Amino acid sequence: MSDYLLVKKVFDNRPVDQVITVKGWIKSLRQSKKFSFMVLNDGSTQKDLQIIVDGTLSNYEEVSKLLSGSSVEVEGLLVASQGKQPVEMQAKKVHIFCANTEDYPLQKKETSLEYLREVAHLRSRTNTFSAVFRLRHVLAQATHEFFSNENFYYLHTPIITSSDAEGAGEMFRVSTMNLDKPHRTDKGALDFSKDYFARETFLSVSGQLEAETFAVGMGRVYTFGPTFRSENSNTARHLSEFWMIEPEAAFFTLEDNATLATNYVKHMIKRAMEQCGDELEFLASRYSPDNLKTLEHVLNSPFETVTYTNAIEILQESAKSHKFDYPVSWGIDLQTEHERFLAEQYFKRPTIVTDYPKEIKSFYMKLNDDGKTVRAMDVLVPGIGELIGGSQREDNYDRLTKRMSDLKMDPTNYWWYLDLRKYGSVPHSGFGLGFERAMMYISGMTNIRDVIPFPRSPKNAEF
Ligand code: 4AD
Ligand code: MG
Repeated sequence: MSDYLLVKKVFDNRPVDQVITVKGWIKSLRQSKKFSFMVLNDGSTQKDLQIIVDGTLSNYEEVSKLLSGSSVEVEGLLVASQGKQPVEMQAKKVHIFCANTEDYPLQKKETSLEYLREVAHLRSRTNTFSAVFRLRHVLAQATHEFFSNENFYYLHTPIITSSDAEGAGEMFRVSTMNLDKPHRTDKGALDFSKDYFARETFLSVSGQLEAETFAVGMGRVYTFGPTFRSENSNTARHLSEFWMIEPEAAFFTLEDNATLATNYVKHMIKRAMEQCGDELEFLASRYSPDNLKTLEHVLNSPFETVTYTNAIEILQESAKSHKFDYPVSWGIDLQTEHERFLAEQYFKRPTIVTDYPKEIKSFYMKLNDDGKTVRAMDVLVPGIGELIGGSQREDNYDRLTKRMSDLKMDPTNYWWYLDLRKYGSVPHSGFGLGFERAMMYISGMTNIRDVIPFPRSPKNAEF
């Protein structure tokens, strides 16, 4: 391990006039009789290392014919350069790990994002995807840094669960029952008491309910894990498996919650700009030229806040001159086109919409005194729509059980959740940020399948 340098380290430390060893994959190789130019990348940085391979090398014949994507180890002298990069290498020895054949699936002519999804196992070899996934790493680190600094403890909530945290019925079943001969009750219904967990179980849609149990004991916690939804949404913004960050804090009002969300999003942008400048520049140049300017602007301006009721008024007024596919009236669930209109065209910045009608939100949100709206907040951002969904939680036992019975939910499944409202109940709030939506927003990539290593969506679970 210690016998070679990451390309990132070569550029960070620039050990000029020293003989060093690097290892990686050939981006391109231009050959001539006397020497060849090799462009090498090892995924540790956006930058490629230029290597001059002299014709006097003992295996020059072989090396000069290497195709892109081949893997090599190169020992050579690092020298200062007048070229695009400050340093380049003069090879003394080239060891070939694997010489690619002509049928290597990543050829210059075939690099559309759609095509690359079909060879997702090789995507990390491209400039685009190594940039995206270095950024993903930085945003994940920034997440832990942010919440830890805000005194939130990282909590690992279960992935297998028996409760529907959103009450939306979009869960994947977890079962070891024999599908040909499932256990049945006398009445012929499936008998889950004989299943692995002796009850119905699912993959979690959200760690919120479990996070709440810890927030009302440890004060502030957050989750960061995979969540699963079987919703049949084949869009550029939905996945069946996505990662969510869910902070939950005792004694937080909705306003505290909104401030936390704002600061968190800004912190991620700040770290992305500090630590992924090359990546952001590269992605902007390819996919969204204005992205850096936009991020800068978001970082330096407050988010807009508007109630759902005001947002509806704005949309109705705007509908006079702007065509919406879905008509707007009080009580509708905002469609992506409405969300994007508000953030992109009307306010031109991230926008926090609060106090939605209770009918379109989950059972656990705190009812306002008007009896009609709940203390919900969605953070909408230009280009994406909903980035965050959150709320102050209903902490009143009677109101919560009433709401659950209105929704025909079985309270016995939520006995432990209801206990939190019986014993030492306190006002508390939290939200969920879709990590891939944040990735899209900050990277400027427009399809959610391109910001997660192996996307899962309806009819698609390859790799
Ligand atoms: O608005 P949602 O459904 O809220 C919750 O799950 C709450 N339990 C969060 C909480 O209060 N602790 O989801 C939160 C966020 C959305 O705003 C969106 O960014 C993302 O998760 N999201 C998805 N991302 C990708 N694919 C999907 N199918 C998503 N569904 C939600
Ligand atoms: Mg939501």
